[in-house]
Amino acid sequence: MNFHILTLFPEMVMNGLLTSITGRAVTKGLLSIEAINIRDYAYNKHHSVDDYPYGGGAGMLMQAEPVYQAYESVKKKINKKPRVVYLSPQGATFTQHMAEEFAKEEDLVLLCGHYEGIDERVLEEIVTDYVSIGDYVLTGGELPAMVMVDTISRLVPGVLHNDVSAEFESFQENLLEYPQYSRPEVWHEKKVPEVLLSGHHAKIEKWRREQSVIRTKQRRPDLLQKCNLTEEEKKLVDKM
Ligand code: ADE
Repeated sequence: MNFHILTLFPEMVMNGLLTSITGRAVTKGLLSIEAINIRDYAYNKHHSVDDYPYGGGAGMLMQAEPVYQAYESVKKKINKKPRVVYLSPQGATFTQHMAEEFAKEEDLVLLCGHYEGIDERVLEEIVTDYVSIGDYVLTGGELPAMVMVDTISRLVPGVLHNDVSAEFESFQENLLEYPQYSRPEVWHEKKVPEVLLSGHHAKIEKWRREQSVIRTKQRRPDLLQKCNLTEEEKKLVDKM
């Protein structure tokens, strides 16, 4: 999968994303991540990419043309019209389900705004999806783009060590992940739950599922409505 990030701060996104798991996936050739500097497409001699908004108001806006030319450079390179995500607090809130959908794309363009935003006309022309990472306002779209690349990348086959890890985890079936333990068996006088030392796989699975249900009820009760709980599990949460 190929990510193309249109940004005024290419080093910010590349430094973050070429680290750890996503960086390793790039080295292995499972992903490509490129940052396109919108400033390289500034058409005036000062290389400025922002201007005052018509009608007045606070701050500066990113101009349409440099953003458009940066997008065109990607389109020309990949020889097709890609899906283009504009990161904005006005977008639909990013979810695991959306990540699964985006992971099916061969190429994905992520457009990062800065200042007070981007001239509406270029957004109308190139953007296919408006995505927010939550109801708060950041200084730019770079961190949200990095969040999206990270989340989508780990769904690409081979990026995680075993494909099972992406399956049994938070938000699978709208349940949170069960608690996990590693050595030592006793730490600060807390013992690892006995069932996990039993080697009895069916019992372990049953315990983990139950813990997931309990944890979801305690920490994210809003998710439970979307879960397929058994009758027994429904009784368990009703008792809590
Ligand atoms: N840009 C600024 N704030 C944002 C947010 N919450 N999500 C996506 N893009 C943003």
